[in-house]
Amino acid sequence: MADTTRKRSVADLMTTGVLTVSAADTLASACDRMLQRGVGSVVVVDGERAVGILTERDLVRVAGAGADPATAKVSEWMTADPNTVKSTDDIDDTFKSLKAHGYRHFPVVDDDRLVGIVSMRDMLKLAPILPVEHPGAIEAKRGLEGVVVAETSVGDVRGMEGFYHYRQYNAVELAEKRSLEDVWHLLYEGHLPSSAEREAFAEEIRSLRSIPPAVMKMLPVIATAGETFTPLDALRTAYSALAYAADFKSWMDIDAATLRANAMQTSAVMPTLIMALYRLNQGLEPIEPHPDLAYAANYLYMLTGEVPEPEAARAIEQYLISTTDHGFNSSTFTARVITSTGADLGSAVVGAIGALSGPLHGGAPSRALDMLDAIGTPDNAEAWVRDSITRGERIMGFGHRIYKTDDPRSVMLRGVAERLGGPMVDFAKQVEKTVVEVLAELKPGRSLYANVEFYAGVVMDKVGLPRSLFTPTFTSSRVIGWTAHALEQAADNRLIRPSAHYEGPPPPEPVPDPD
Ligand SMILES: CC(C)(COP(=O)(O)OP(=O)(O)OC[C@H]1O[C@@H](n2cnc3c(N)ncnc32)[C@H](O)[C@@H]1OP(=O)(O)O)[C@@H](O)C(=O)NCCC(=O)NCCS
Repeated sequence: MADTTRKRSVADLMTTGVLTVSAADTLASACDRMLQRGVGSVVVVDGERAVGILTERDLVRVAGAGADPATAKVSEWMTADPNTVKSTDDIDDTFKSLKAHGYRHFPVVDDDRLVGIVSMRDMLKLAPILPVEHPGAIEAKRGLEGVVVAETSVGDVRGMEGFYHYRQYNAVELAEKRSLEDVWHLLYEGHLPSSAEREAFAEEIRSLRSIPPAVMKMLPVIATAGETFTPLDALRTAYSALAYAADFKSWMDIDAATLRANAMQTSAVMPTLIMALYRLNQGLEPIEPHPDLAYAANYLYMLTGEVPEPEAARAIEQYLISTTDHGFNSSTFTARVITSTGADLGSAVVGAIGALSGPLHGGAPSRALDMLDAIGTPDNAEAWVRDSITRGERIMGFGHRIYKTDDPRSVMLRGVAERLGGPMVDFAKQVEKTVVEVLAELKPGRSLYANVEFYAGVVMDKVGLPRSLFTPTFTSSRVIGWTAHALEQAADNRLIRPSAHYEGPPPPEPVPDPD
């Protein structure tokens, strides 16, 4: 098995059986021996002790001075008391020292005894095993925190100010004043629609909401394939089949209008896929999209077959608008990385769904609600939260990479939840207050507040969505952001391909022969 801890030392590379001369030898005899051995230096010894070094550079000086090698002595031209290294010295340090001094050779001396020589030539053997240098590389913080990797005009998040926007419009204000379709138009087309554009856009969406027959045939199998039903896994699988069936191609092989059409179909069909899979898993027939209902109301309609109350539809619409885009979050970045390779839009969206599924990203809202269940009553909140944090656990629905103040989405969704009302909303507000206080005490200086996921769970629960559909519902809005970013990436692409520091055991480890 490879030694994973040992650093390579000079002993691994040095040349033993060093060519030596004595200080009293003539330059001619030293040169003769260097030529015979084909080396560029000779170590001058007194017994086993290295007292000097004579190199090709010294011989150039000899020639320049017109000295006669037949009579000149090594002692007159050598570098006395040369820098030496020990055989146990670290190779990287030795290499750096050679470079820094401009030397080409170091005698290797252990306990005053010459045991070898290490040269630039030996160091050439090192080339494949030195840490690779990345010219012009910028060291990024772990998790790429604070690293700017692209230009975008889709939107931006201002973490210290608790503000985010879509194409310069405050996203919370958009959620208060506009429909999801208007925001979708804004993200794709770059501006809010006029009434004629709104009509045309709605018409385009309507025709793209249905699931193609070839994919519909597969859904009953996908919806029941897993031992336990994980709607997001089923969605990822079904959407991948759809992108394949709809013949999505590398954006490098299609024009911008076709790529936009792929994006429109993706965002339009996602809610239908989510609800069809859910119902099929429950042993129910999927419900076709309602031609007269807008996105949000239709979403809830496809769950039950009943036209939802306007308050419920508006509540979920506001949630969907507030989660459509959010800077270079992990799933959006994933979509852009995949797009940057020239892959088809389907691949970018499948990858993004995978990234969103993680509890540290989009998988938290149902867990936040599970937490409310586990806490049970307001009196239990403080002890429960203290205990969890002391055990090193994370409180789901709290903390954010960018926001170091209130997450504006959680503030807005708290308002939506209050509008819907009910005991669970009051309880959630009490728990939020306790969690923020306990986190401030036990994790001082981390600025941890409720994030979008905390009240998202409460709002989705209030409008009748089952917990297993929380993250898929997040997906149905965020896909609009992902695809807007994919369109932007494709329009002005450069392959996204960063580097990493190798920190494993030093290469090259000889490949062992098979047993
Ligand atoms: C969202 C999240 C992943 C951001 O993480 P991040 O920017 O990488 O922050 P870090 O993981 O470096 O955390 C910084 C510190 O705050 C603590 N912290 C962050 N979120 C916390 C939480 N929800 N509960 C308890 N402690 C938390 C970490 O333990 C860490 O403490 P330490 O300095 O003692 O190690 C993180 O806040 C989290 O895990 N939240 C819970 C999951 C969640 O709600 N996800 C949905 C996000 S929208």
